[in-house]
Amino acid sequence: MQQQEFQKIYNQSIQDPEKFWADVASEEIEWGKKWDKVFEWNFPNYQWFVGGKLNITHNCLDRHIKNGLGDKIAFIYTNENYGRIAITYAELLLQVNKFANGLKSLGVKKGDRVVLYMPLVIEQIVAMLGCTRIGAVHSVVFAGFSDKALRERIEDLQAKVVVTATWTLRRGAKKELLPTVEDAVKKLECMEKVIVLDRDAVAARHGAPSKGGMPRHATTRRIDYNRLLENQSDTCNPEVMDSEDPLFVLYTSGSTGKPKGIVHTVGGYSVYTHYTTKKVFNLHQDSIFWCTADPGWITGHSYIVYGPLSNGITSVIVEGVPDYPAPDHWYKIIEEEKVNVFYTSPTAIRMLRKHGEEYCQKHNLSSLKVLGTVGEPINPEVWQWYNKYIGNGQCAIVDTWWQTETGGHMIVTLPGLPQKPGIAGLPFFGIEADVVNQEGQNVPAGEKGFLVIKKPWPSALRTCLNNQGRFNQYWNEIKGVYFTGDFAIKDADGYIQILGRSDDVINISGHRIGTAEVENALVAHPAVSEAAVIPKPDEIKGERMKAFLVLKDTALASEDLIKKIKFHMRHEIAAIAVPDEIEFVPSLPKTRSGKIMRRVLKAQELGQPVGDLTVLDK
Ligand code: PRX
Repeated sequence: MQQQEFQKIYNQSIQDPEKFWADVASEEIEWGKKWDKVFEWNFPNYQWFVGGKLNITHNCLDRHIKNGLGDKIAFIYTNENYGRIAITYAELLLQVNKFANGLKSLGVKKGDRVVLYMPLVIEQIVAMLGCTRIGAVHSVVFAGFSDKALRERIEDLQAKVVVTATWTLRRGAKKELLPTVEDAVKKLECMEKVIVLDRDAVAARHGAPSKGGMPRHATTRRIDYNRLLENQSDTCNPEVMDSEDPLFVLYTSGSTGKPKGIVHTVGGYSVYTHYTTKKVFNLHQDSIFWCTADPGWITGHSYIVYGPLSNGITSVIVEGVPDYPAPDHWYKIIEEEKVNVFYTSPTAIRMLRKHGEEYCQKHNLSSLKVLGTVGEPINPEVWQWYNKYIGNGQCAIVDTWWQTETGGHMIVTLPGLPQKPGIAGLPFFGIEADVVNQEGQNVPAGEKGFLVIKKPWPSALRTCLNNQGRFNQYWNEIKGVYFTGDFAIKDADGYIQILGRSDDVINISGHRIGTAEVENALVAHPAVSEAAVIPKPDEIKGERMKAFLVLKDTALASEDLIKKIKFHMRHEIAAIAVPDEIEFVPSLPKTRSGKIMRRVLKAQELGQPVGDLTVLDK
């Protein structure tokens, strides 16, 4: 897109956002019934496409089949063994319908919550869409979270059903998922059924010898995924959903202790993810798209599942890590599948860069046209490397800033616009973003401030599950605007550079983790009396975590205790919540009112000036 054209459309979208989004919604999405009103804002609550009726699976599947694209491949799945499974749009719809009917046979209905704890396989996407087909609300929990974290989410959701698989693949090993789920659902009253995908049976269907089927210790609540689908009809009319009916809940860490269940709704999310996917990645009907995220995170929801399917393109999904079994694993896939759009995280790019460019140079990557990044700031040198070695200097680089709460891309340099390495760029169409001070006043170009969004956009979160107060905070932290929690700088051209979190959230490899959540879990260890956690720069992960611990009088500091605490954290939350470093200290710096001064610890750790210490309790 040329700069002038962008500016013209952007101006129109800001002058009359309702007309802009109504035009997009009419042109891009099929509705069962058109909306009565485009937008309604009763501060802080808002609605989009009020009174509209639709089902997102119709737009993702049925309409493409109706338009003659049934035989087009929707997903190509591959993994570290280079197994390859392709599924067409028509086949995917049949699977989704069967799964939807299977859920119905278990008594799941519109509005019920279903939790997914699955590896990145086609069945996970089938399960998500199967829920959506019947109006059940899915909540995907990344299959690296602990039984405790999973249980907490299931309870908050009052979910009836969990869908899982026997194992996931990681660096050549099968990591079992079922024991975690069994521990999570033990004696949970709301939980009725656990649907289990037996992956050895799936592998056997695709030619690998079976390794013995479902584990023995089956409980009565457990149902085999394939058996559930076996006798179901492959037709299922999509449930008629209101624009503002919930589509899914996804948990994310914040600055308070407990993760928040971010609620997204059908209409606005459909429109926004469809349109951002199309524009940001400059899609064509024959585009081959690969987003390396996992549906356990928002990037997977919006840019593996809903956005790409709604646009009717072919996507690659890959179970596993970037550099296993070999450092050129991903390049090989790009070459073999002729990927045009590649969307990944700065952490992954840093990992690839560390292995060296000789690995990309072994492969023909000339199919690539657009390279995306997401999740954390990308260092200019890493941006340059991505551009030069993976993009061969021929690709648009789209550094996309957004959040679980925003549902879709918010700040990005669209393909064709002048690029600035390390700077995300301009607000997307219809988005008014600004950099302000604590009072909400604009800060001058080049100065650091808080990134805010001035008005609701179609895919903005609608609430936090069971916690409307937490939702209100987003719009009240700086009165009247959406508070992103990020620091940013706007330059003289209006380009916005994201600097990182302004709150107590640490970003590790593009994943958010709240310091409060980590500290609570650390203090839950019997040896720990007090804990403070700070981020430190990390060459690969962006940020790493250091924990300062005050031990109880009864505990003795030792290497063995560090190991035990790390193990405890994995069990309490997940591997990403395990501090990289642990230091035992006699006390923590605190204010006179008893608040831990993490900034003092951070400054000391990084050898920076500690700043104003007048409130420190000495
Ligand atoms: O700090 C920003 C960072 O990730 C946070 C959102 O995290 P999450 O909700 O997990 O969603 C990640 C994927 C959309 C933001 O508040 N972040 C995300 N994208 C970027 C980024 N920081 C810098 N540049 C980005 N492109």
